[in-house]
Amino acid sequence: MAEFTLPANSKVQPGNTYKAPAGAKRVRSFKIYRWSPDDGKNPSTDTYEIDLDACGPMVLDALIKIKNEVDTTLTFRRSCREGICGSCAMNIDGTNTLACLKPIDDVKGDVKIHPLPHMPVVKDLVPDLSQAYAQLRSIEPWLKSDTPAPPDSERLQSKDERAKLDGMWECILCFCCTTACPSYWWNGDRYLGPAVLLAAYRWIADSRDEHTGERLDALEDPFKLYRCHTIMNCTQTCPKGLNPAKAIAQIKTLMLERQV
Ligand code: SF4
Ligand code: SF4
Ligand code: FES
Repeated sequence: MAEFTLPANSKVQPGNTYKAPAGAKRVRSFKIYRWSPDDGKNPSTDTYEIDLDACGPMVLDALIKIKNEVDTTLTFRRSCREGICGSCAMNIDGTNTLACLKPIDDVKGDVKIHPLPHMPVVKDLVPDLSQAYAQLRSIEPWLKSDTPAPPDSERLQSKDERAKLDGMWECILCFCCTTACPSYWWNGDRYLGPAVLLAAYRWIADSRDEHTGERLDALEDPFKLYRCHTIMNCTQTCPKGLNPAKAIAQIKTLMLERQV
């Protein structure tokens, strides 16, 4: 089995190894980032050897197996286990994705798992998303309309108006895109990042919303929007196949159009 080596200057220590049960035939090593705020130690990488013949097909199945059967201290978020809640977002084999949608067989060799990059870590694979959620709140992601809804019906849209929201309403706010964005890594305190900007455009593009100008005014800022340099990591990594970079480009186009 290939040996996992850390760079010489890494503060991450080699950790514990949990061997596969005797007689296991299809063994795969999961190299998992571990850090606890409670023990004062540097982070480490623990190795869990898992018998794939006794495990479900997805990376999340392996994590749940490890937590249930090998090491109850391993900490990660998950809920729906079918790509809907966004809570199992993590970095697997160098790519931000959802553990519940990532087949183990898609990874060649050891399965290396880290928390979403460039976020503070709460514990193990759980990132602190407080900043991203505060940024989401700041764009007021709800319908804002001064005209009262019709008394006897919902606020209606044409099919074309509704179609403009496709590719945006599907976002599950997993923040795989935001944490893959170099601009967010360097300026995350001021740049809103692709997930929040996609959410902002979802309401800007909604024909029922009457606060479009105010929403654009709020984004007219050298950092909130314009730190996007179209590097496209966001779109490449989105596990739902969405295109936040395009939404950001569309906001920029609207900004230009209202200047002429
Ligand atoms: S396209 Fe923009 S938002 Fe997406 S990764 Fe690049 S800089 Fe970040
Ligand atoms: S755009 Fe994709 S990667 Fe980004 S938060 Fe939404 S679902 Fe996740
Ligand atoms: S557990 Fe909900 S998206 Fe993976």
